[in-house]
Amino acid sequence: MRVFITRPIPGKALNELKAQHEVIVWPGECAIPRDDLLAGVKGTDAIISLVTDRIDTEVLDAAGPQLKIIANYAVGYDNIDLAAAKARRAVVTNTPSALGDSVAELTIALILALSRRIVESDRWMREANYVCWVPGLFLGQDLTGKTIGIVGLGRIGMAVSARATDLFGMHVLYHGRSEKPVARALGYEFTTLPDLLQRSDVVSLHVPLTPETHHIIGEKELVFMKPTAILVNTARGPVVDEKALYQALVEKRLWGAAIDVYEHEAGLLDDANWWKFTKQTNIIMTPHIGSATVEAREEMTRMVVDNVLAVLAGKEPINPVEGSQ
Ligand code: NAP
Ligand code: GLV
Repeated sequence: MRVFITRPIPGKALNELKAQHEVIVWPGECAIPRDDLLAGVKGTDAIISLVTDRIDTEVLDAAGPQLKIIANYAVGYDNIDLAAAKARRAVVTNTPSALGDSVAELTIALILALSRRIVESDRWMREANYVCWVPGLFLGQDLTGKTIGIVGLGRIGMAVSARATDLFGMHVLYHGRSEKPVARALGYEFTTLPDLLQRSDVVSLHVPLTPETHHIIGEKELVFMKPTAILVNTARGPVVDEKALYQALVEKRLWGAAIDVYEHEAGLLDDANWWKFTKQTNIIMTPHIGSATVEAREEMTRMVVDNVLAVLAGKEPINPVEGSQ
């Protein structure tokens, strides 16, 4: 059968797919242009898509009725129209267990980098500003014994919480759709979003992007946060209202923010609001590298391949996303 991959992906497992099926990989380095996507999916039985690909009715119709699976090379699947895929009996899968540790490690790295002003200090050193040791130079904040607020205590939220408690003895508050017995057993405190924002020294976002979580952190929510607090977003850009975040950073209503994902990620360099962040020292930005480790990418490829092989062999998908079947 025919498998279309929208971009080259690393990982040895691809050879297993190639041994059994015709695999076509769109060769570009950046996101596939829409016309190439519509042409590339034509007549395919499986699509391996990336977070940058919008898989909607137009793409599904272009693929045709033989399409059996869209295996998203990601945990998040906000780029896929699930209802449209379901209506066409194409299952959608993701890579849930492949990358939680990697994203949690990046999140902790960003929290430490902000609290200890590592990026700012590094830049300052490179500019040859060092003259002598000064007691008040680049004063940061300790994390030990402080409170972390997790918005969305799923796989990644849990992995971040475990590290925050094990490494720094932090108290964990969390907000989500429902209280979790496993979290209660660990001593994590379930609370409302305003209460979490008021009491947390670090706020870390781990919700999927949905209509409910769009701008879950906006002007109103930022007002609740402590002026010494850190905000980290490794979830999806549009869960934060970036204009409101910029204003809070300029007015020093927050200690700082670290973001790995962007509200207008596809056209970042055309986004005037994003350019303003580049002038701020109290923000750290990384290029959506939450799962960018050798181990996670290898495992993500393993998972998309296993899902495609299963479905093309007429078996059940291993990681169907909720609501896709
Ligand atoms: P997950 O296990 O599904 O956890 C998501 C959590 O968010 C769940 O606990 C869920 O609550 C909660 N949630 C959903 N809707 C909510 C709402 N309206 N209000 C409050 N909480 C809500 O997902 P995950 O594996 O941890 O991944 C989380 C997200 O991280 C992904 O969706 C993706 O967008 C992002 N991500 C980013 C990177 C990166 O490279 N930066 C990498 C991987 C993932 P329930 O338990 O009640 O459903
Ligand atoms: C990456 O952003 C993912 O959702 O896996």
